[in-house]
Amino acid sequence: MERILVIGAAGQIGSELTLALRKVYGNENVFATDIKDAQKDIKRSGPFQILDVMDDKRLIHFVIRYNITQIYLLAAVLSGNAERLPLQAWDINMRSLLNILDLAREVGIKKVFWPSSIAVFGPTTPKTDTPQLTIMEPSTVYGISKLAGERWCEYYIKKHGLDVRSIRYPGLISFKTEAGGGTTDYAVEIFYDAIKYGKYECFLKPDATLPMMFMPDAIRATIELMEADQSKLSVHSSYNVSGISFDPQQLAAEIKKSIHKFQITYKPDFRQVIAESWPETIDDSVARKDWGWESKYDLKKMTKIMLKEIKKKS
Ligand code: SER
Repeated sequence: MERILVIGAAGQIGSELTLALRKVYGNENVFATDIKDAQKDIKRSGPFQILDVMDDKRLIHFVIRYNITQIYLLAAVLSGNAERLPLQAWDINMRSLLNILDLAREVGIKKVFWPSSIAVFGPTTPKTDTPQLTIMEPSTVYGISKLAGERWCEYYIKKHGLDVRSIRYPGLISFKTEAGGGTTDYAVEIFYDAIKYGKYECFLKPDATLPMMFMPDAIRATIELMEADQSKLSVHSSYNVSGISFDPQQLAAEIKKSIHKFQITYKPDFRQVIAESWPETIDDSVARKDWGWESKYDLKKMTKIMLKEIKKKS
């Protein structure tokens, strides 16, 4: 029987992944933790505790006490926030991963999931159809920490035989929990502002194309990768996965089809520079071949659901 620890269960990915994992492995077998309080559905459907991933002593007690067999480490400081506090972000992003990798080795955890990002790529990376293996010279603190993290994951796999699995998530779009401090966050904020005010001021330029993914695809990708036969996995750093690529102008046009009065204006800030350093489209052929990955949502389908669900909340 699997007993799963989710770290960062109140965050954008965690708040949805925890519930999906509980459906697969049973409510009582998925232990949700975060440094902040979680949503009601997380707390009602199964165990939840406040836990700081930086507190390695409490972490190891927790893992032993609850006989944890798998860990999903989702806590991180995203790209925009990391540029504001580079050293703190580096410390949090790296130390949390190293705490988990070393704990997993010591205790004998069966599987670890850790998210990487399209931020591992940089200005010298080919921008379109970015390959799995390519030039990687990230220019953000977040990207540097994710690239270093990928190297550490592979090191623990090769050196200590750990089973660590990872995805380079594109910008994630979801209606349940907002992200915080990311460069791709505009693609979530825009829906809230469109519904509330009928307008949105975008911090990226109209043509800033970025790889994005609707959360249901991201959750399914994560669970499919974690359930894949280990012998089929040829990548031990992190898998490229592709969802939908679009720019703010295209997203605004899609929203305008439902909210006719919607207006977008542009006031690019430092995050535009980050966006320019990232790919526009991703080649995920290795993920497709190794574990059968395929995305299901396009811009139209995603926009329709986002508008419907956010309207329900407001
Ligand atoms: N969505 C993230 C960010 O913008 C990228 O992984 O920081």
